[in-house]
Amino acid sequence: MRQSWSLNDNWDFERLDLTVDEAIASIQAIGKPQGEAVRLPHTVAETPLNYFTETAYEGLWCYSRWLEIPEHQVEEQLFLSFEGAGHHARVFLDGAFIGEHLGGYTAFELPLVNVRPGGRHLLAVLLDSREQLDCPPFGHVVDYMTYGGLYREVWLKSKPRQCIEDFYLWGSELLTQAPRLNLQLTHQMTCEAASGQLILEVTLEVHDAEATAATASKAGTESLNWQLALPMSGITHALPLPPLSEGHWQLWSLETPKRYQATLRIWHSENLDGAKSNDAGLPGKKLLDQVSVVIGLREAVFKEDGFYLNGERVQLVGANRHQSYPYVGYAMPAGPQRLDAHILKRELGMNAVRTAHYPQSHHFIEACDAIGLLVFTELPGWQHIGGEAWQSTAVVMVDEMVTQYRHHPSIILWGVRINESLDNTTLYRATNDRARQLDPMRQTGGVRYLRNSELLEDVYTFNDFSYNGIRAGQPGILPRKKVTKGRGGYLVSEYNGHMFPTKSYDNIRLRTEHALRHAHVLSSIQQEVNVAGGFCWCLFDYNTHKDFGSGDGICHHGIMDMFRNPKLAAGVYASQRPLSEGLALRVGSELHIGDYPAGYLEPVYVFTNAQAIRLYKNGRLVGTYTREDTKDSTKDSYGDKDYSGLKNPPIILEDLVGDALEKGEGYSPGKARRIKALLRAGARYGTDHLPMWALALAARLVLLDGFKPSDGMRLYGKYVGNWGDAHSSYTFEAVEGDRVLGQCTLGGASEPRLEIRVDRTNLVEADTYDMACVRFMSVDGGGNPLPYDMEVVEMDVEGPIEIIGPKQIALRGGMGGTYVRTAGRTGTGRLTLKRGGKYQGALTFDICIQEGEAIR
Ligand code: GAL
Repeated sequence: MRQSWSLNDNWDFERLDLTVDEAIASIQAIGKPQGEAVRLPHTVAETPLNYFTETAYEGLWCYSRWLEIPEHQVEEQLFLSFEGAGHHARVFLDGAFIGEHLGGYTAFELPLVNVRPGGRHLLAVLLDSREQLDCPPFGHVVDYMTYGGLYREVWLKSKPRQCIEDFYLWGSELLTQAPRLNLQLTHQMTCEAASGQLILEVTLEVHDAEATAATASKAGTESLNWQLALPMSGITHALPLPPLSEGHWQLWSLETPKRYQATLRIWHSENLDGAKSNDAGLPGKKLLDQVSVVIGLREAVFKEDGFYLNGERVQLVGANRHQSYPYVGYAMPAGPQRLDAHILKRELGMNAVRTAHYPQSHHFIEACDAIGLLVFTELPGWQHIGGEAWQSTAVVMVDEMVTQYRHHPSIILWGVRINESLDNTTLYRATNDRARQLDPMRQTGGVRYLRNSELLEDVYTFNDFSYNGIRAGQPGILPRKKVTKGRGGYLVSEYNGHMFPTKSYDNIRLRTEHALRHAHVLSSIQQEVNVAGGFCWCLFDYNTHKDFGSGDGICHHGIMDMFRNPKLAAGVYASQRPLSEGLALRVGSELHIGDYPAGYLEPVYVFTNAQAIRLYKNGRLVGTYTREDTKDSTKDSYGDKDYSGLKNPPIILEDLVGDALEKGEGYSPGKARRIKALLRAGARYGTDHLPMWALALAARLVLLDGFKPSDGMRLYGKYVGNWGDAHSSYTFEAVEGDRVLGQCTLGGASEPRLEIRVDRTNLVEADTYDMACVRFMSVDGGGNPLPYDMEVVEMDVEGPIEIIGPKQIALRGGMGGTYVRTAGRTGTGRLTLKRGGKYQGALTFDICIQEGEAIR
């Protein structure tokens, strides 16, 4: 029946410094594959971490390989399937042009005609990765790199000549007493219908990955089956589902992302009356075609007062994700793609992601399906709308996005406007119509920065960059009514980003401000009842054009760096997750006086999901702080922000002195309180600029309490500025009632070491090579990040693995990473890491090769 063979190996690759016509002629003339041997996913050019331009990957390139046509039934048709080719692919077989595709972010298929089993052919792809192409996202500036390459997988596939051409299955009325499974189907079944009958069978079974022994006995695991006369082409059918309450199936949800394998089979039955049943319980004989897809049954709807999943309001907390990685741009196989979904859900505690600004790898979206993460995906583009041909391509891209991605239960919204473009009634009527026609289930949105722009979509998705931190009392987002009069859903599709770019190696005050801006805007979003949620800009730092970024080719807008290491702002999100999902404890300071003006450390922000923080200075208890103690006197340091909308606002430690003046110096409580207030005023305003109240306090202390200015200087050095005294260490205990959940000690000095993390050490070559993501961070003896460590890290590998990118990198913000790729052989590989020449650790990888259906 249907088969697919991976074509990810054995490609040759070369750059063609020719015009398009010359390149076509040259490809038509080659007699055998030529160039460097490569495997897919592949980038046309490996790039450095920063300081490079688009010229690194722009150009014309040739991918070529032999294509042995496997044994297949002569009545089957073969076709090539390309998951992603950036950005214009012209495909040739034995020199003859067989088809092309414009647009680098969606898949395409090309039929192979007249190829005989066993034959050998020369397959060649002329790939144009230049940015001048007449299609989205090109035509003007773009704030992200648009890397080229056959950067996703390629397949050879077969299907019967009489086949299911296209289908879509989706649930509706799921929460009612009459739920339905809807089917849209087009097929090419013709001849046999004259004698006998064509029968369509639809089966819903628990998706393999989930049908473990533990769940097999639970409700919702039995299979459901429908049989009906094959509907006419293009007709939508509604198949009745048993009511949810009967327990035959389960909803897909964030907590229990139940998935089903849906299978369509078309049978030809010669004789319906009195025919015996075969194994499938069907009368008749012959299976003509069979297709399967993994789906989830859920109701996702944006209403005026928010987003509802299965009838329950869910506040969307998410981030914008670019699909780029260091060195290889877009070309990453399944493993790293999946890891990103896990980072969003498990490390950051988010429930949603926007695939800015294009459809992304199915591996990533499948991981979102599998773990329960909501996805807002959109057509490629960035602000610019081109001419007629460009716009027609944009509509085709909507078409491809919807048909290729609509079975993913995680996707809750289609973005059908070019990100941040101006209104364009004709184009956006067309894109909305197309999306609604191809997917009657989902709503549309379209990201804009315009207020009161024309709303043809169901959801007003608005990039709200209004918060600039300048005006006191400024809310994190605009009131909805100032942005649109539309009555549908409303979503903040971006915030922060360029409003406060922050590098992982920036000074702590910038990193703290960055984190607090995220906390403030998130809090504002969560306070608005008629806002469905928000997506911060953005998940990771990303390479970009010279028109953006910091002149180094990077937009440092991420809450994580390019290797997916957390900046301080990541702690804001992680601390919103429930304690049951793990303790979050990130102190917004390294507690070193040299990082602060006048050596004044306060206030310290702690991002945690614990109830309280117990603080010790040099082992002595300073105090216990809860959120209720959180005051807004931090205004002077970090502006006027409000965190009260958050589930877990940061705990703000304003007083690092505690009762030390009483216990350590023997002052009475009243006198100690007055001295402390004066010392803190000194730190905040400077001794030469004390406000009237502080001067009055000083006068009182001198006249009535017998306090001497020299005492003030001594105490200041010892307890506040610490300038002139031995260093202090601070221990933060995260507590819940009496229980200490975790702790960290800061402010000390110890030799840095690398903390090394890896997503997997069992690597499997199946359809293509596998890749492990290694992240490392320089930490002190207590495991706390050392953000100013810029030492060189050396990486060395042995065995059947390779490192992507340089083998020596400098830490940035004390962090870095690398990627370890399998090399087509089984065995054990070892990665060794040194920091500043000193051994830090090694990772051992087990590589196995799974014999799949590959044409090597
Ligand atoms: C938005 C845009 C994003 C990114 C962001 C930076 O305007 O949609 O792609 O450039 O600004 O904050």
